[in-house]
Amino acid sequence: MELERKQSNDSKWWKSAVIYQIYPRSFADSNGDGIGDLKGIISKLDYLETLGIDAVWLSPVCRSPQDDNGYDISDYQDIDPMFGTLEDMEELIEEAGKRRIRIIMDLVLNHSSDEHFWFLEAKKSRENPYHDYYVWRDGTEGAPPNDMRACFGGSAWEWVPEVQQYYFHQFSVKQPDLNWENPKLRQEIYDMINWWIGKGVGGFRLDVIDQIAKEPDRKITNNGPRLHEFLRELSRETFQKADLVTVGEAWGADTELAKLYSNPDGSELSMVFQFEHICLDQMPGKEKWDLAPLPFLKLKEVFGRWQTQLHGKGWNSLFWNNHDLPRIVSRWGNDGEYRVESAKMLAILLHGMQGTPYIYQGEELGMTNVRYEIGEYRDIETLNLYQERLEKGYEKEEIMRSIHAKSRDNARTPMQWNDGENAGFTAGEPWIRTNPNYREINAAKQTEDEDSVFRCYQELIRFRKEYPVFAEGEFRMLLETDEDIFAYTRTDGDSQLLVICNFHDRTVKCPLETPEPDGKLLIGNYRDRAGGPDGTLLLRPYEARMYLTAAPKA
Ligand code: GLC
Ligand code: CA
Repeated sequence: MELERKQSNDSKWWKSAVIYQIYPRSFADSNGDGIGDLKGIISKLDYLETLGIDAVWLSPVCRSPQDDNGYDISDYQDIDPMFGTLEDMEELIEEAGKRRIRIIMDLVLNHSSDEHFWFLEAKKSRENPYHDYYVWRDGTEGAPPNDMRACFGGSAWEWVPEVQQYYFHQFSVKQPDLNWENPKLRQEIYDMINWWIGKGVGGFRLDVIDQIAKEPDRKITNNGPRLHEFLRELSRETFQKADLVTVGEAWGADTELAKLYSNPDGSELSMVFQFEHICLDQMPGKEKWDLAPLPFLKLKEVFGRWQTQLHGKGWNSLFWNNHDLPRIVSRWGNDGEYRVESAKMLAILLHGMQGTPYIYQGEELGMTNVRYEIGEYRDIETLNLYQERLEKGYEKEEIMRSIHAKSRDNARTPMQWNDGENAGFTAGEPWIRTNPNYREINAAKQTEDEDSVFRCYQELIRFRKEYPVFAEGEFRMLLETDEDIFAYTRTDGDSQLLVICNFHDRTVKCPLETPEPDGKLLIGNYRDRAGGPDGTLLLRPYEARMYLTAAPKA
């Protein structure tokens, strides 16, 4: 029993793995209804194998009314007909397995859909056995228990006349929060997860997992007092029974909390997925829509802190993108003249660090943000924000500026496969408009082109498997106060990685000694080396250089 209970995280496969995230509705449509599906994904597995990734994190495909694009699940043990069938899912797991790709499912455990059987029962009466699966408070209509707000706008409380109570929802009204205090609910969740493990999935991504232990009476949403107790029980009852990768989405994690989530003894999860670096370009204390320039030195400080504090004590995810974030090349790179250079620089910068890298579909092509009219947006968060800010008196232009910069739909436009109609994503009408730049930016073109962003990602993935220094090396930040250059080393025994990136669009002198001509340039994003007459290295706009050398003997 004790043996089965603990599985240390020490030498796990996922430490040198690269994970690719698929947002199923936007990836590949097999039947022309304009919505991506499981058969579409199966048809693209060869592409993923060519890229070289080890696992796919699949955003939710379970049965759902799609109020929040599948993050509102009405049946955890069935596939939404829009995406296919359970047989398709089994085929996907099997076909991926043949290519040594594991399938990671998205577990949405903080809330269910209001159309889930549990909730339909729960709202019938206070005596119903499922009532306590959700978070209820007594009250009178029009006077919610407190002023807590939902993440997608409006009150976090919704009145149900049948039971004369409010239910709590941290997201939309169609996403009632589950009550983790209830042991019967927890057991149902464990049974469901074990059923999926039995189907051969390779792991789980846990949606907003830091919010499950909420205590609304004290206005606690994330990091509730019982959070890690719940996580340890969850892990013991499910994940520890197999060799899985588990990753917890945790907006509220700092490095100390991350060490709990990703404790090397394996008692909770494999790794944490936290957002400190990616939230830096917003006004302090404000919402993501309140735009501010990226404080570059702060970015270095944040990455540096996570790298050093977790070394040997926990495990982090490395990412620039996901389905909730704008495209990184438009955000912190340059999606005009230097699109290719900056997309590669951002890739090299991130993929040299310690942690497990995530590539979000289309990132490997340098896909960009879109600038649509409001009527072309589909995301519930974006649409609610638009209404809310209009009502508050914001100018339309200002709201659209925020939406163009930060809308989640930037990441959700169809994957750009080729230069045919609708980028080869669908033979029908896509559920959301395709980014018009697909004729220039697409997978068909880039897989053929030796200098493409795709090839750069392919190489970086290969290096992580080839050289242990990528998984193991100790991180040291260089040039902490330099306003343009992001540089660091990773050292593992005799091996040393040196990464030097010019983060901006002006040419700068590199004050570091570089190992040329004897050192090994593993990868860069310019064909040649630029230097001053005195032999110094010049870094051109967004130039990145990654060297692998032997560490100097102490
Ligand atoms: C997570 C998901 C996001 C979703 C929310 C509610 O943040 O990534 O897409 O809307 O949780 O489930
Ligand atoms: Ca379809």
